[in-house]
Amino acid sequence: MNKQLRKAVIAGNWKMNKTPAEATALINEIKPLVKDATCEVVVCVPFVDLHAALEATAGTNIKVGAENCHWAENGAFTGEISAQMLKAIGVPYVIIGHSERRQYFGETDVTVRDRVRAALNAGLTVILCVGELLSEREQNITMEVIGKQVKIALAGVSAEELKRIIIAYEPVWAIGTGLTATAEQAEDVNGAIRALIASLYTKEDADGVTIQYGGSMNAKNAGELLSKPNVDGGLIGGASLKAPDFATIVMAAN
Ligand code: PGA
Repeated sequence: MNKQLRKAVIAGNWKMNKTPAEATALINEIKPLVKDATCEVVVCVPFVDLHAALEATAGTNIKVGAENCHWAENGAFTGEISAQMLKAIGVPYVIIGHSERRQYFGETDVTVRDRVRAALNAGLTVILCVGELLSEREQNITMEVIGKQVKIALAGVSAEELKRIIIAYEPVWAIGTGLTATAEQAEDVNGAIRALIASLYTKEDADGVTIQYGGSMNAKNAGELLSKPNVDGGLIGGASLKAPDFATIVMAAN
């Protein structure tokens, strides 16, 4: 029942895939398949594809997101893109703290917090990724790890700003591996994240937060995962690059 208090959001995370021309083609394929979606549909694309994606989605129910942004408004940060720049070209969403950023690019809980701050200041909606390593799950410290990630990322985020935060629970061992968390595992962690948010804010605030699951979500397993009361959507990698699969997941969230 609480599910009705928040919007289901299905977001594709294209990672480092697709040229601008390929992005336009994929979006044109997705468009008719998801036009009747009642959930929010987002495609998060590489920076160089943003213009093409914004153009291809204009006037549709598909929103566009970036896959990262810097914590500063501008400055000497060669190779980086600021949240203000994303805002300026009309991008509404940004993924922050993806495990691949944490794993390969030195992202820490503190830089994630700073990037979240920059994105909120620029008026963007954040898809904040959190998740445990396999070794952490095996040591039974999943919630300690995720609790720390969530608490640090939300430090200084007001209840009003929390409305522009979506949390994506992505167990690192499930990303791109074909190993999906069971619906029960996803529900357990998402429920615990919601309880933690209720303790940091209020229960009402926590009930309003969309908490996605991500990690090998696909056309086959999406229905079961999304049927859980605390799984409010998905962040989809591999399956978001195939229009029919992505559309099936979107329709499963309806
Ligand atoms: P995957 O990626 O669906 O390919 O596992 C999910 C993600 O990294 O967001």
